[in-house]
Amino acid sequence: MILKIADLNLVKGINARQIKLLQESGISTAEALAMSPHGVVSEIDGLGGKTAKKLIWNARNALGMTEFTIAEEINENTEYITTGSAELDRILGGGIATGKLTEVFGPFKSGKTNLAHTIAVTIQLPPKKGGLNGVVAYVDSENTFAKEKIKRIAKRFGLDPKKVLSKIHHARIYSSDHQQQMIAKAEALCKTRGVRLIVVDSLMALLRNEYVGIGMLARRQNVLNNMIHALSRTAERYNCAILLTNQVATKMVGMFSADDAIGGNIVAHGCHFRVMFKTKGFSSNNSLKRRAIIVDAPDLPPEECEFFITSAGIADSDQVEMPAKKEMDFEIETLYEESSTNQEEIEDEPNVEPTESDETDLITVKGIGKGTAENLRNYGVSNISQLIESDPEDLASKISGVSLKKVLEWQENARAILQA
Ligand SMILES: Nc1ncnc2c1ncn2[C@@H]1O[C@H](COP(=O)(O)OP(=O)(O)O)[C@@H](O)[C@H]1O
Ligand SMILES: [Mg+2]
Repeated sequence: MILKIADLNLVKGINARQIKLLQESGISTAEALAMSPHGVVSEIDGLGGKTAKKLIWNARNALGMTEFTIAEEINENTEYITTGSAELDRILGGGIATGKLTEVFGPFKSGKTNLAHTIAVTIQLPPKKGGLNGVVAYVDSENTFAKEKIKRIAKRFGLDPKKVLSKIHHARIYSSDHQQQMIAKAEALCKTRGVRLIVVDSLMALLRNEYVGIGMLARRQNVLNNMIHALSRTAERYNCAILLTNQVATKMVGMFSADDAIGGNIVAHGCHFRVMFKTKGFSSNNSLKRRAIIVDAPDLPPEECEFFITSAGIADSDQVEMPAKKEMDFEIETLYEESSTNQEEIEDEPNVEPTESDETDLITVKGIGKGTAENLRNYGVSNISQLIESDPEDLASKISGVSLKKVLEWQENARAILQA
């Protein structure tokens, strides 16, 4: 159900003083009131239980929430944000969904923050490229937000890094109470700034340190519960995507140890999509290959896939294609700032051993590396003639991070091979 935003004064029987009290508590619309738990509203000083109940019910009445809806008329309107990896998008049913909470949990270095950065950029793409032209609120409780990374991801997707940064509202968080406050603020940004994605990276880090021991568990879960509910309401009300990252703790299950997300049932039940990220082996830095596993989703099969972390975010291979310089109307630096390879080398000589050395193999085409070739095969383009025959616009819209110009270039280079 997507509600429209309505003022509090639409609520029958409400007075100016009550509106002020509600607004001071972060409840600034009729929707927020209608979806707030009674316990939260009745605790506002100066309102009281009876008034709270009356106002909440009247708010629901005003919004037509007290009628059942014929299922045929339910407006789901789910949209998806590409993760930068076609494989990860596929197992997620299209990408990170709007209107829902997605939890990604995994060990240190498994790629959670990289995913958060990648979608903070891809949401800004137009819908046919896997975005929503959206704005982001980034709640950063581990101090791992990196502007440079955002800039590289922006370049990868052909976006102006400066503009991209201007559409990310970032908050460095110092305590769990601060986190709660900024989650409420993020909701306000959905209304005033068109935020369509809220990232909380990470959900539990501060709570875990502040509420230590079993004696504190109930209080910790209460704080967590409030955050999850506030985020759920925001997701639904603004058709906003929510990405929560979470750490894992190793648990003993009988004779086996297993990694499980922390936060317990509240997080597990509060999130619609739960995805586990895994590193390979102990020395995770030997390879940037990662695994993603759908742990829980209401309407998705329990699938797994592989993806990669690159210097420009999440991708399907260990190196990403960059759009040609001439397409971008902003200054471009070298992508792989951290390594010594420059972009020309990467484009000219894909560092791969040709597998089936067929002369029509895609990787013989200038500009196509092993990863891209694999990607193309996933879309049914498995040799040079198929590449030449495909609709470039269609291909560019399907493969994330690839521009139309790039596809046209590949086709030209492919034709050159056949003519040679
Ligand atoms: N520029 C880069 N190029 C390739 N890999 C990188 C780059 N920057 C970071 N990484 C890799 O990303 C991993 C960290 O991912 P991150 O998303 O921060 O994990 P998490 O948030 O799950 O702890 C590290 O293994 C690191 O080697
Ligand atoms: Mg992280």
